[in-house]
Amino acid sequence: MKCDLCNNESVTFVRYNGSHLCADHFKDYFVKRVKKEIRKEVDLFKGDTVGVAVSGGKDSMVTLSILHSLFNERNGIRVVCISIDEGIEGYRPPSLDIVRKYCSDNGIEYRERSFAEMDLPMDDIAPVSGSSSPCTYCGVFRRKLMNDEARKVGAKYLATGHNLDDVAQSVMMNLVRGDIDRLARLGPHTNIRPGLIPRFYPLRMVPEKESLLYALVAGIPFWDGECPYWKEALRNEYRDVVDGLEDRSPGTKYSIVSTYDKLRPLITPASPHEVKFCFCGEPCNGKRCKACEYEEVLKGRIGAGKG
Ligand code: FES
Ligand code: ZN
Ligand code: ZN
Repeated sequence: MKCDLCNNESVTFVRYNGSHLCADHFKDYFVKRVKKEIRKEVDLFKGDTVGVAVSGGKDSMVTLSILHSLFNERNGIRVVCISIDEGIEGYRPPSLDIVRKYCSDNGIEYRERSFAEMDLPMDDIAPVSGSSSPCTYCGVFRRKLMNDEARKVGAKYLATGHNLDDVAQSVMMNLVRGDIDRLARLGPHTNIRPGLIPRFYPLRMVPEKESLLYALVAGIPFWDGECPYWKEALRNEYRDVVDGLEDRSPGTKYSIVSTYDKLRPLITPASPHEVKFCFCGEPCNGKRCKACEYEEVLKGRIGAGKG
């Protein structure tokens, strides 16, 4: 099959708009949408710093690669790659090797934080996570370290690799659970909360499949191993539901997210003005942040196991 725009072989058929595209035209099409999303979500000027949260998976590597090509000395916007080592043997070390090498080959500033700083690697947390999924703890600690490092490098925004599939699943999940507060806070962050670096999602309007194809045709290295602790059963169910809907009516994922965007101004998060800080420096709702609370609980459980 030929590309609709030139004589080259097509590499993909984009079902929701019925077009066949070759590798070069697919890359153009992809980057165009990412740029549009960036323009919609953030205001960046000379002297600003953007942090990019990178795990080494396809989505975060694609995000890093595109942001690095858009922002550089020419426009005076600094890009800093930030990675977190959760302490998962056999899973995280190879992915971080890919990120480090990519950054050093491409002259990208690289920062790394680790769960070892808290003396709580995921390999120690998982056996004591009880009835909660290990991902619950992992997510809270990762967000804290990421936010802390982004703040340290003076980032105005923090980009993550969330794609259209991730966002559509989150919208559906929170809608069905009636979790209006989470729904309102899904981001991109328009209400700036002191101490919390606003997130933005350059891949928010591109399906996961296209992010994978872009990584492959653009030759971006990535790690596709699966986390041994990944146990988000609910999200997996919503993935199946959203994929099923997309299969029957191409364009559904896009329509879920754009409908959410239209509704968003009407949804207000609970107590948006209340700002408190934990003794560790993180913004929080109660006296302490979730990460400090979890740290104490987990260390107690690990200590009890040893004793
Ligand atoms: Fe955190 Fe898997 S990466 S639980
Ligand atoms: Zn073409
Ligand atoms: Zn804290």
